[in-house]
Amino acid sequence: MAKGKKVTIIGTGNFGSTVAFILAMNGTCHNIVLRGRNYDVSRGKALDMSQAANAARQHTIVKAAKTVECIAGSDVVVITAGAPRGPGMSRDDLLTKNAEIVKKYAAEIKEYAPDAVVVVVSNPLDAMTYVVLKETGFPRERVLGMAGILDSARMAHFIYEKLGYGAGQIRATVMGGHGDTMVPLPKFTTVAGVPIEDLLDSEEIGEIVTKTRNGGAEIVNLLGNGSAYYAPAKSTAVMVDSILRDTKQIHSCAVMLDGEYGGYRDIVSGVPVMIGSDGVEKVIEMALKPLQVKKFAQSVTSVQEMVDTLKEAGFFSK
Ligand code: 2OP
Repeated sequence: MAKGKKVTIIGTGNFGSTVAFILAMNGTCHNIVLRGRNYDVSRGKALDMSQAANAARQHTIVKAAKTVECIAGSDVVVITAGAPRGPGMSRDDLLTKNAEIVKKYAAEIKEYAPDAVVVVVSNPLDAMTYVVLKETGFPRERVLGMAGILDSARMAHFIYEKLGYGAGQIRATVMGGHGDTMVPLPKFTTVAGVPIEDLLDSEEIGEIVTKTRNGGAEIVNLLGNGSAYYAPAKSTAVMVDSILRDTKQIHSCAVMLDGEYGGYRDIVSGVPVMIGSDGVEKVIEMALKPLQVKKFAQSVTSVQEMVDTLKEAGFFSK
């Protein structure tokens, strides 16, 4: 338990609220601040969660931010704000709209919580992480995008569905951007230590890879109004917990690359990193097969295209 720690959640829709609720139920931090668009709604949710924390016999207090000053002193700020995907939309369709929203909050964090580690979950995830890095000017260690944990959890679930056993014992790995070009890595995926390539044939593994890439869209289509939030929120909470408790756990996260994986620089993509109290404490370089190198390159290119769209629109100089 990280006593005395403060986490701000920006955006109090289903996603942000569920992150806060998980943190409060686990007593991950002492204070949670909800910064939503509607103060009364945020206050209502904050009261409800503080009362739930009492029921759970946890010490966490949740409060709503009336003014931006309330985020001061945050150890971690989670940015969930932005429009979610609707049916038929890709994450990339949200680019310009969400970039403006995320930019505004990045400026607030820079001014009022300059020492925070920032976890970005707004979509399109990798491009929004890039926006936060540029707008805050924070070192790359202190800005991480959530996605690899979620995509890996989805892959693990689809492996369970195929095998019919192993739930909770499957360690799947997904790298690259959090989009249609994400790179699930069967080579680095095991069930209780057994490589999945020993348990499933290549056609079955191919189906799992496709289902993983479409995992978010499947839920968007089923819900009909909004996108998934339980697994995304739990994945975010895992990252916050790793930062506050300095666990040094390794997870795939979206980070600014600085020469890793063959020399990529000034672009964000999902790679395995060690997370601790300083944020990204180490980038882990896996030995990829040539096909995986190619797929990772395609994924980085798709993020680069979004960043270029923003650059061409003069977004970063405004
Ligand atoms: C998802 O994949 C919200 O991007 C998130 O469900």
